[in-house]
Amino acid sequence: MDAHLPVMVAETLDLLAVGRGGLFVDVTLGLGGHSEAILEASPHARLVGVDRDPRALELAARRLERFGDRVRFAHANFHQLEPALAGLGIDRVAGVLADLGVSSMQLDTPERGFSFRFDAPLDMRMGLAERTAADLVNEASEGELEMIIRDFGEEMQARRIARAIVRARQEEGPIETTGQLKRLVERVKGSRPGDREGRVDPATRVFQALRIAVNEELAGLEGFLDQTIDLLEADGRLVVISYHSLEDRIVKNTLRDAARGEIDRVTGRAHSETQLIEVLTRKPLRPTEAEVERNPRSRSARLRAARRI
Ligand SMILES: C[S@@+](CC[C@H](N)C(=O)[O-])C[C@H]1O[C@@H](n2cnc3c(N)ncnc32)[C@H](O)[C@@H]1O
Repeated sequence: MDAHLPVMVAETLDLLAVGRGGLFVDVTLGLGGHSEAILEASPHARLVGVDRDPRALELAARRLERFGDRVRFAHANFHQLEPALAGLGIDRVAGVLADLGVSSMQLDTPERGFSFRFDAPLDMRMGLAERTAADLVNEASEGELEMIIRDFGEEMQARRIARAIVRARQEEGPIETTGQLKRLVERVKGSRPGDREGRVDPATRVFQALRIAVNEELAGLEGFLDQTIDLLEADGRLVVISYHSLEDRIVKNTLRDAARGEIDRVTGRAHSETQLIEVLTRKPLRPTEAEVERNPRSRSARLRAARRI
C-alpha cells in the first residue's frame, strides 16, 4: 500500500487524450503523481502545474525536474485559473485535470492539522487562507458552526456538536488542537476512542466540514469549471476527480448545464451555439476493486470528464 499513488491514472490519461500532445494543466499538482504520468505518457505533452500550497509546488518541482522546460509551475488557487495562466501567456489549453481535496502529504504532516491521527494544532489551511480551523472553531457563532458541520460534513448531530463547542470554549478556554476537538466530538456522540461508525471515525465528518470551510473548497469550484470550459481548445478535455458527494454534485450539475446550453424560451430548444461541451461520463467512473485494494485513498473517488465542442 502506497499512500502517494495517484488515483485513477489510466482513466485520467485516456479521457484527457494525452496521446495527442499539447498543453495540459494540472490544477491540483499535489505531489505531482498525475503530472508525472501525463508527461511520461506523451513526449509531445507539456504541462503547467498549479497548486495553492507552496510546499506541494516545491516537492512536485523536484519530482518533475527531469522533464526540463516541458513543465512550468504556478502558485494559485484554481478559482483564479484564467489570470494565473494569462500570467504565463497562456489562453488555450488541450486539457485540464483537477484531483480535488487534500494530498497525502498534507494529511500526513502532523503540524498541518488536517488529521486527528496526530494531536497537533488545529490548522487545516491548504494554502495561504487567513483563518485556521482553530480560528473558526473559537470565533464562529453557534449558528455558523452548526451550518458548517451540517452542510459540509452532512453530520446528523451538527446542532449538538456546535453547542458543545461553544460551551467548551466558554467554560474551558479555546480549542487549540485536533485531539481536543476529536475528544469533544466523541463525548457528544457518546463514543469511546477507537469506536467507528461503519467505516468512518466519529470525528471524520466534523473534520471534513471544517476543512471545506477553512479552504472555501466548494465556493471556487463552479467558477473554476466555467473558466476551464472557456480555456479549452476544440476537442480539449476536462477531467475532475472528487472525493465527496458535495463536490461531485457541483461538478455534475455544472457540466450538465454547459452541455445542455441555453434553452430558447419560445421553442423550448437549446441554442446549439451555447452548448459548450459534451459530457464523456454519463455516470461517474469509480476505481476498480484492484485499485482500491492497492490504494485505499481511492475508495471514494468519482471521476467525471467532458470534451469541448
Ligand atoms: C488530492 S491532491 C492532488 C494529488 C496529485 N494529483 C498527485 O498525484 O500527487 C490535491 C491538491 O490540490 C491542492 N488544491 C486543493 N484545492 C485547491 C485550489 N482551490 N486551488 C489550487 N490547489 C488546490 C491541494 O493543495 C493539494 O495539493
